Amino acid sequence: MNAPMMRLHYFVLAIACLGIGPHVLAQQGGLAARPPMGWNSWNHFRNKVDDAAVRAQAEAMVSSGMRDAGYTYINIDDTWEGDRDANGNIQANSKFPDMKALADFVHSKGLKLGIYSSPGPKTCAKFEGSYGHELQDAKTYAAWGIDYLKYDLCGLRDQMKTAATPEAAHQIMVDAYKKMDDALRSTGRPIVYSLCQYGNDAVWEWGPSVGGNLWRTTGDISDKYTSMADIGFGQAGLARFAGPGHWNDPDMLEVGNGGMNADEYRTHMSLWAILAAPLLAGNDLSTMTPETIALLTNRDVIAVDQDAAGREGDRVSAEGPIEVWARPLADGSRAVGISSTGTNSH
Ligand code: GAL
Repeated sequence: MNAPMMRLHYFVLAIACLGIGPHVLAQQGGLAARPPMGWNSWNHFRNKVDDAAVRAQAEAMVSSGMRDAGYTYINIDDTWEGDRDANGNIQANSKFPDMKALADFVHSKGLKLGIYSSPGPKTCAKFEGSYGHELQDAKTYAAWGIDYLKYDLCGLRDQMKTAATPEAAHQIMVDAYKKMDDALRSTGRPIVYSLCQYGNDAVWEWGPSVGGNLWRTTGDISDKYTSMADIGFGQAGLARFAGPGHWNDPDMLEVGNGGMNADEYRTHMSLWAILAAPLLAGNDLSTMTPETIALLTNRDVIAVDQDAAGREGDRVSAEGPIEVWARPLADGSRAVGISSTGTNSH
C-alpha cells in the first residue's frame, strides 16, 4: 500500500555567536535606514481597498501591538486613483473621499501613509498613472501628507516597446524612475521611494542611482508555499546590493491570508528577516487571529530583520534539501536559518 507523502518544510531561525568580531555599525540615518515595516492593501484587499478599510488597518496596527513592534507604514496600493481635474491634478476616486483627512487620521495614530502610482499613463489595474504629471503628482502627494510611494512600471512598458533597442528601452525606464525621484525630492517632504518593476534588468545595480529606497526583486508573491519559497530562497546572491537606505524587496508578506499553514508562515517571516526584507503585512489586520499577531510581532525575528548593521543574509550552503542561510548582525553574532524542503513518507 502506498503511504501518503508528507512534505517537510521548515526554516529554523537561530542567533548564533560564531566568534566573528564586531564591526562598525552602519550609522546612516535618513529614509529607510532599516527595512521599511508596515502594511500594504494589495495582497488581501486588491481593488476592494477604501477609506474605511485603511482606517481599520491603522486602528488595528495600533491595537494589535504591531505599531509598538515597529510597523509604521499604512500603504494604499493600486485602485485609489480617480480622474485628473481641469488643471491635471490627480484626484482620488469615490472610495477615498478625502485623502488629506485620511493621512491626518493615519498620522494621528503615530503611523505614516503610503500611496501607489506608475511611471506609465496607466497602472497595472488600468487606473491613472503619473506619466507626464510626475512633478504635479509628487506635489499632490506631499500636500496630502504622503510618506511613501510605490512606483509600479506597468503602463510604461508600452512606451518602452517603442524604443529601437533594448538599451534604449532600459533608458526610458531608468529615466522615468529618476524623474519621479527628482520630483519627490523637490517637494522637500521625506517620501520613501519603492521601485516596483519585478526585478528585471538587474534593478539592484541601478536602483540606488534613481533614488530607490527599495526595489522589488521578483514578480508578484501569492499566498502559496511554492510562490513564497521560490521567491524567498531565490534571493541567494543579492545580499551585497542591500544596505541602509536601499533594500532588496522580495514582495509583501502573505502571513495571515490563509493559504499557508503555521509552519509555512513561520518560514516566510523568518526568511524575510534573514533577507533584511521590508516587512509589509498583506493581510486584513482588523480580523487577524492571535497566532497571526504573535508571528507578525515576534520581537526576535523583527530584531533580526531590523538589525542596525543592515547587512542582508545569504545562502551559505545547499546540500540536497538542506539549505543554510546566515546574516551577520551588528553585535558580531549571526542569525542562521536552516531549511529543509525534502519529502518524507510515513
Ligand atoms: C503589480 C504589482 C503588485 C500590485 C499590482 C497592482 O504590478 O507587482 O504588487 O501593486 O500591480 O495593480
